[in-house]
Amino acid sequence: MKHLLKLQDLTREEILSVLNLADQLKFERNNGIHKDYLKGKKLGMIFQKASTRTRVSFETGIYELGGYGMFLSSSDLQIGRGEPVQDTARVLSRYLDGIMIRTFAQQEVEDLAKYGTIPVINGLTDYAHPCQVLADLMTIREYKGSFKGLKMAYFGDGNNMANSLIVGAVKLGIACAVACPKGYEPDSVITAWAESNGEFLMTEKVEEAVKDADIVYTDVWASMGMENEKKEREKIFKNYQVNSEVLKKAKEDVMVLHCLPAHRGEEITEEVFEAHAKEIFDEAENRLHAQKAVMVKLLK
Ligand code: CP
Ligand code: NVA
Repeated sequence: MKHLLKLQDLTREEILSVLNLADQLKFERNNGIHKDYLKGKKLGMIFQKASTRTRVSFETGIYELGGYGMFLSSSDLQIGRGEPVQDTARVLSRYLDGIMIRTFAQQEVEDLAKYGTIPVINGLTDYAHPCQVLADLMTIREYKGSFKGLKMAYFGDGNNMANSLIVGAVKLGIACAVACPKGYEPDSVITAWAESNGEFLMTEKVEEAVKDADIVYTDVWASMGMENEKKEREKIFKNYQVNSEVLKKAKEDVMVLHCLPAHRGEEITEEVFEAHAKEIFDEAENRLHAQKAVMVKLLK
């Protein structure tokens, strides 16, 4: 594992190895065991979009590992004024030990890895959110004990979260059902791959996807960069809400996950959100542990 650009690049064994290390790092943190796994290592963190969890968990994470995190807003970098990513990659490789980047185009992340000589971590693109899904898988295993025999249902927009969740679930043998309105499906290469490599269902009907689900996952209807489509999307997605009525068709001990930020009353009701707040905020906490594991794997 040289980079974390998208989950497709990782084998099942590599994913499990990150999750096992994440569990170990969480145990150590909870028991006051401090080890400088990345003493003196420097991580640059480029943000072209807003962030609460990704920014704070990466910065906290690298600090706790004995390294240093540098927040690099694209509005301050020359990249924001048109310096090519190829050049940025080559320059940053001379100073840093790793780069985390949140941006729009997946190609930019791939180019950063291609032209630089240091590990690159995708902290969200329009196409993928691998760090989030590693934390999600960690949380699922914490609650369910293993991945065996589980079914995950995702409803809403076929966005970066849907793309990465499908890949993560299929790689770990979780059955996956995705309900999206026509025209808002996840990436077609990913869905075709999922169909031939795992137990995967793509449907327009929430009732079909949610049936006997162990995990129900949702995300915002208008992702970052789509703010101008918000009103139109509220109409298109109104039947894709996670609410108590829909959850009746899932397993009784269903867990509800959300990558956050959540829009109560849109993709999830206040009632369901609060009833499942424990697992949703454990999931948010696990970003820290999962990303520390990724950094140790890549930067050590
Ligand atoms: N889930 C997630 O990535 O949150 P942020 O946008 O706050 O980083
Ligand atoms: N799909 C959302 C995820 C936020 C963590 C977005 O891209 O805005």
